[in-house]
Amino acid sequence: MPFVFFETFGCQMNVADADELASALYTRGFERAESSSRADLVVVNTCSVRERAEKRALARIRELSAHKARRAGRALWVIGCMAQRLGESLKRDCPGIDLVVGARDFERFLENIDDALASPGPLAGASAPYAVSRFVPVMRGCDNRCAYCVVPLVRGPETSLPAAAVEKTVRALVDDGTREVTLLGQNVNSYRDGDTNFPRLLCRLHAIDGLARIRFTTSHPKDCSEELVRTMAEFPKLCRHVHLPVQSGSTRVLSVMNRGYTRDDYLARIDMIRKHLPDADITTDAMVGFPSETEREFEETLSLFETVRFTTAFMFAYSRRDNTAAASMDDDVDAAAKQRRLARLIERQTAITKEMYKAVVGVSLPVLFSGVQEGKKDVWMGQDMGCKKVLVPCTECRAGTIFTVRIVKSTGKTLIGERT
Ligand code: SAH
Ligand code: SF4
Ligand code: F3S
Repeated sequence: MPFVFFETFGCQMNVADADELASALYTRGFERAESSSRADLVVVNTCSVRERAEKRALARIRELSAHKARRAGRALWVIGCMAQRLGESLKRDCPGIDLVVGARDFERFLENIDDALASPGPLAGASAPYAVSRFVPVMRGCDNRCAYCVVPLVRGPETSLPAAAVEKTVRALVDDGTREVTLLGQNVNSYRDGDTNFPRLLCRLHAIDGLARIRFTTSHPKDCSEELVRTMAEFPKLCRHVHLPVQSGSTRVLSVMNRGYTRDDYLARIDMIRKHLPDADITTDAMVGFPSETEREFEETLSLFETVRFTTAFMFAYSRRDNTAAASMDDDVDAAAKQRRLARLIERQTAITKEMYKAVVGVSLPVLFSGVQEGKKDVWMGQDMGCKKVLVPCTECRAGTIFTVRIVKSTGKTLIGERT
């Protein structure tokens, strides 16, 4: 049996693509390799969102390409967003690459996977390994034009998958043992298939027996509707977590970023969410050092973090990307200032996260278990209805079960619980 190994950079969309390709390969007789050195096929799934993401992927591809020269018969495929952006030119840099598939060609590639393998198609009986929680893309691409962002360029225009196809995918996953799905789109709130908008899609999936939890990401503040939040409050399988990237706390910076909302609009959304879902985790993405951002404007981001109190946040320094609107702006916040601002924001949010986690110590929560912690036999990993990870020493836990757990301690990033 040939062995395949995946290395995935970037967002959940890439993880979902890798899962899909992995399923197609497993049903064709491939097995999962423990490491890249044991694999007959290595697939590197790349991201272009920041320069560093590309550099890391490129370094890894160069390394694999050089290794490959020492072992005949091994194949190296490069897929994802950087594969889209740089295309065949990657092969000039890394001659060990056998195949480059850009993110926009991925669906078509999957349909014709047998051509790439020159093999006879799915084998009877083979199936993908089961996972408690899976990512399910419901939309591809993005129609927004945030000034800094390369995603619309590499992923193309926004399209919604037919609701019937999404339902079929989720049912198939549930039949295989999946208990939780995370619906993915760059802006899931703008999902639409005929009369089915995103809240209606959620209701439709909610009816699937055996499915325990539904999550989704990413919500865009300008279209995160009250209808969506009411739906979340009403249907018990919908998780209590809204990821709502703010990017900046300054209305002027938001406007140059072309985000389509002001600081006050954003804060009003937060109030609306907290009104219907007082216990929900709200998380965000933010960026410091966007072209022309002043120290005072950066401090507005800090103060917004103070006001909202996100459970967690992803925080980045602005990275100039070719062919975006911001690429033609003067990247005038110097690297040291960007790093200083980033460090301040991270420090503040880390303290807030710690407080948010501490606040649930003593509380009992339903936890869905996904597996044991690496290297530990009876320490189970799970997640609450929000975004918080929970570790529980437990001998009766099984992957896919939900137990009520009393939180006894917080490490600041993870909760420790015990079965009640
Ligand atoms: N569709 C999602 C985000 C996709 S990219 C949304 O609209 O929120 C994930 C995060 O990467 C973004 O939220 C942003 O904070 C960050 N990001 C995107 N482009 C960036 C750039 N050029 N430099 C730094 N961070 C960036
Ligand atoms: Fe990028 Fe903006 Fe689209 Fe998100 S909404 S993918 S940040 S362009
Ligand atoms: Fe995701 Fe990176 Fe592409 S964030 S959509 S993998 S550019």
